[in-house]
Amino acid sequence: MTNRKFEVAVAGATGAVGREMIKVLEATNFPVKKISFLASYRSAGKKLKFKDEEIAVEELSEKWIAENSPDIVLMSAGGGTSKKFSPLFEKKKIYVIDNSSAWRMSQGVPLVVPEINPRTLSTDKYIIANPNCSTIQMVHALFPIHKISKIKRIVVTTFQAVSGAGQKAILELRNQTGKIAASNFEKIQLPPRQFSAFPHQIAFNCLPQIDVFLENGYTKEEIKMVNETKKILDPEIEVTATCVRVPVFRGHSEAVNIELKQEIKIEKIREALSKTENVKVIDDAKNLKYPMPIMAAEKYETFVGRIRQDPSRKNCYWLWIVSDNLLKGAALNAVQIAFKLAEIL
Ligand code: A2P
Repeated sequence: MTNRKFEVAVAGATGAVGREMIKVLEATNFPVKKISFLASYRSAGKKLKFKDEEIAVEELSEKWIAENSPDIVLMSAGGGTSKKFSPLFEKKKIYVIDNSSAWRMSQGVPLVVPEINPRTLSTDKYIIANPNCSTIQMVHALFPIHKISKIKRIVVTTFQAVSGAGQKAILELRNQTGKIAASNFEKIQLPPRQFSAFPHQIAFNCLPQIDVFLENGYTKEEIKMVNETKKILDPEIEVTATCVRVPVFRGHSEAVNIELKQEIKIEKIREALSKTENVKVIDDAKNLKYPMPIMAAEKYETFVGRIRQDPSRKNCYWLWIVSDNLLKGAALNAVQIAFKLAEIL
């Protein structure tokens, strides 16, 4: 890496992912020359800290883009902003690491997990897509296995934290839990009302719906996992998913069943995972040790446990994969992409 320093803009800086992006940029000492924080007009003027400096949030707008030229934009402003603004940055030859699903499946847009496919980055590709949170942690753990024996099929069920749906969703779980606790747990079901972040009560509940339903009965989140896994790992892998929102603040968990082309020893899987960058195996059933969201929260690694053969079908195995959805699932992966990009700029 050169000694070059970069002008960076964090778009969506006041949001659940944006705040983590700022923390990861600080913690990893990304070579920042100048930093800008962008959000909606509602946050303009609000101060956020970067290292010891107080920086005023500016409105992400066409005007801002016309008047400024950062080298790299970390984009997590949500709600249609990626569709609108990322191409404007692209036009000015500014690199955008986009956390939305707007560009992930577009041809020619790299969809990057730095431990897997950093070579899809190139200096002439200005929009870079950060994959879906559930996809990132799954492919991160499956890639070393796929290298030993090709994965034919993946069946996955996710248990996803509310923070994946943003700050509003975090507050909603807090408020609902508080109300139920205040009633001394006499009523677990809150009276019907407009739930703003989710279609149903999330406290003390599980929702088998993340994002909207499609014609085929699957949700958009489930189809993202299918398509993005193929794009990142291998187009020949068959994937089927059920995505569930659970009342956890931080950390997505996944029960993953894989079918391999050839049988491999469990020990070999464990060894390959142990050697993988930023993957940690916690798999000690005797001592009741396995990954859980409360231990993965605020950690950079992807944790894997419950690794076992599936006796019901040849060459099939189970894994339990947990990671912080705001970090490896979003902000950390984006900053890791920025580091890889910095290497080639
Ligand atoms: P703001 O705080 O001003 O609303 P989250 O995912 O936690 O809901 O955060 C979304 C982030 O995206 C926030 O920083 C939010 O800013 C920002 N944002 C939402 N809508 C817009 C918009 N139209 N233009 C720019 N930033 C936006």
